[in-house]
Amino acid sequence: MDFKELLNRHPFFGEIHSAAEELGLKAYVIGGFVRDFILGRPSKDIDVVCIGSGIELAEAVARKVGKEGKVTVFKNFGTAMLTIGEWEVEFVGARKESYDRNSRKPVVENGTLEDDQNRRDFTINALAVSLNKTTYGELLDPFGGVKDLKRKIIRTPLDPKITFSDDPLRMMRAVRFAAQLNFDIAPDTFDALSEQAERLKIVSEERIIDELNKIILTPKPSYGFKLLFHAQLLHQFFPEMVALHGVETQNGLSHKDNFYHTLQVLDNVAEVSDDLWLRWAAILHDIAKPPTKRFDKKVGWTFHGHEDKGARMVPHIFRRLKLPMDHKMKFVQKLVRLHLRPIALVKDTVTDSALRRLLFDTGDDLDALMKLCRADITSKNDNKVQRYLRNFDKVERKIQEVEEKDHVRNFQPPVSGEEIMEAFGLKPSREVGEIKEEIKEAILEGKIRNNREEAWRFMLETAKAKGLEPVRK
Ligand code: CTP
Repeated sequence: MDFKELLNRHPFFGEIHSAAEELGLKAYVIGGFVRDFILGRPSKDIDVVCIGSGIELAEAVARKVGKEGKVTVFKNFGTAMLTIGEWEVEFVGARKESYDRNSRKPVVENGTLEDDQNRRDFTINALAVSLNKTTYGELLDPFGGVKDLKRKIIRTPLDPKITFSDDPLRMMRAVRFAAQLNFDIAPDTFDALSEQAERLKIVSEERIIDELNKIILTPKPSYGFKLLFHAQLLHQFFPEMVALHGVETQNGLSHKDNFYHTLQVLDNVAEVSDDLWLRWAAILHDIAKPPTKRFDKKVGWTFHGHEDKGARMVPHIFRRLKLPMDHKMKFVQKLVRLHLRPIALVKDTVTDSALRRLLFDTGDDLDALMKLCRADITSKNDNKVQRYLRNFDKVERKIQEVEEKDHVRNFQPPVSGEEIMEAFGLKPSREVGEIKEEIKEAILEGKIRNNREEAWRFMLETAKAKGLEPVRK
């Protein structure tokens, strides 16, 4: 691997080199950028470590780069960020760190390059390339990081117990890198994950979820989740998902393992969509199966109402995990609540009003819901899967026909509340709301069509039945 070529590709490595020379400092590119270069993954974030002050070096480089570069200094951390166009170069002095067992805050001292490499999380993240005169472009790989990249292994540079105990977030990072790169976790590193899983408790939910979302966004997220589960990391922050695991048998009848089913649905969704929130809907679609599980002697296992209970659980889970409580949560909640509806519409006898109601309830999220429902078909019998998918095609065609006719997808009331008030001389009141609701119901039920004339006539009839007379003008 020719690292000189890597350095020559980016003009500012030359500037860093000469600025370091002038200051009499040693400087190295380190971490993710070197790893990603070897893996052939493009990266715009560069970490530079120097033996001395990172801030001074950043400022000297900025003077050389001219007005293209912008430095931001983080005095408290002793670091500086130099932005050059779309590149972000972070400068830091080499450190030696020791950690307090009860927090993630390290006690930091100046150190050598080796000290700095020792304190890094994984061998593949401890690779450094020299920016110094006599060794320019030389790779410094004290822990066999390149070999681990080739063998596709996540391993800590030091005893994994120390590395994870220093910073328990690294346990999530181990799984995240394994998931993103499709690597294995070395056996002793994995054992340390299991042993220290409980230490994740001192890490903030935000940091954990940041890593979890990266795992969810990998091409096959089930792999990361299985690692989290087997290392007992998932147990520390997501007990509802762990509860999906396992099979119970009564009177010779077993239900499916909802944990592995959920992971299959998640992988299926991941094949057709990169949307993080649709992937979250897949994770949560059956989340209330454990609390709604019953055994009935006649019908076997049931999970009645798991879609409604699941939808009620969504805001609690989102709040606790510090996920956004805005429209994204509402979207996930809606999909969890509605995930059984399309399958109920597969029958030949399905009425237009049922289709209209689904359109009304899903609005713009119908496509996402259909993706989730298709992903939810996880039978091992391929004929069965194909049959279900064909049935969904049919449902989608029928929905399209109804929408073309009735336009209820983004339903706007054809008569507004103000118009009802004006027509009958009413103040804002329950009656106005009722009339409006009855008009909507009549449209969804197909009693009247979704247009102003029919809605107006229907409004007059409804009001009359309530003893209301229109105001004469
Ligand atoms: N690092 C670490 N322990 C952490 C976080 C980071 O040892 N908890 C070190 C690693 O050497 C890592 C470097 O700091 O390579 C930069 O961290 P970060 O930017 O978070 O990760 P990258 O490796 O650059 O990867 P990505 O950009 O994919 O997050």
